[in-house]
Amino acid sequence: MMMKRWLLAIAAMMASATLAVANDWGMGDANSKIPPSSIFSPVSTPASDISTLAFFVLAITGAIFLIVGGLIVYSIVRFRARADDDGREPPQVYGSNPIEFAWTTVPIIIVFVLILITARTIYTVQAAARPPGAIAVRVIGHQWWWEFQYPELGIVTANELHVPLSDPKNPTPTFLVLESADVAHSFWVPRLAGKTDVIPNHKNTMWIDPHQAGTFLGQCAEFCGTEHAMMLLRVIVEPRGDFQKWAAAEKQAPVQDASVARGRALFESTACVSCHTIRGTQATGTFGPDLTHLMSRETLGAGVAMNTPEHLKIWVHDPEEMKPGALMPAMNLEQKDLDGLVAYLATLK
Ligand code: CUA
Repeated sequence: MMMKRWLLAIAAMMASATLAVANDWGMGDANSKIPPSSIFSPVSTPASDISTLAFFVLAITGAIFLIVGGLIVYSIVRFRARADDDGREPPQVYGSNPIEFAWTTVPIIIVFVLILITARTIYTVQAAARPPGAIAVRVIGHQWWWEFQYPELGIVTANELHVPLSDPKNPTPTFLVLESADVAHSFWVPRLAGKTDVIPNHKNTMWIDPHQAGTFLGQCAEFCGTEHAMMLLRVIVEPRGDFQKWAAAEKQAPVQDASVARGRALFESTACVSCHTIRGTQATGTFGPDLTHLMSRETLGAGVAMNTPEHLKIWVHDPEEMKPGALMPAMNLEQKDLDGLVAYLATLK
């Protein structure tokens, strides 16, 4: 009887866990295929410099901790009260010049070494010169999504940053200039670089030179309101040729598919156009993400859902369902119009 109740409880727990996975809009599955974004496995110079420095500081402070802690433990054991204690004070020693000198200079030397090494790391990370092959990206933090502009390539996209693989022998790093459209955010892709604040009316800069192709997860690392936790981003690192192919496709105007003309007309006649841009249409808004090549992105709503037509329908109907607090209003279209609109969006490859 007891056993049966336990089995039922476990079955119920498993069912609710499956339900939770079913409600994550496919993100759990997709993200489980990407290696965890650990600060311990850097794949870009700024991240590995910072990690090397952190381990060096940890080694020195760890050694100090062991020496001091060991001496304390030794003293506690060696000089503990004993049954045959005669109660006299131990000999009092004052002003030994060699000892005073040693414990003043040794910490000063240690602190100086830490200062110099830290300053050198800050310098190599922040003052790196921009080589000719570098890619320039303007990052703009919004509540709650990322805008990525490539001014030299004429590309605007959102939430998924494409950058070329950087070969140490022939580096093609990406230099980012970060700004905010509203409040303070922080751009953080742990395996590529440290956090950089994204501040309104102020430009910060950083760079990355990924040595490994693949997708790297990142997130906003500064509380910026309701959906701070869902202000995710991906960095897609590709070999140079693939990057150029992607860039060329992004530069193209979207194909005009006659079969979805109704959906397009609908898009152009609703409030969508005041927030979104689709090149080659009436839509030139800049408050929300550029949708010109919406379907070239894997995710929706800054990493809240996989970008599929089914999810798009839920999103356009009412973003609150996926991302409570999202600033996009519910379009509340009739089913027929919603289907037409999403059929049009789905052609924006
Ligand atoms: Cu943007 Cu937190």
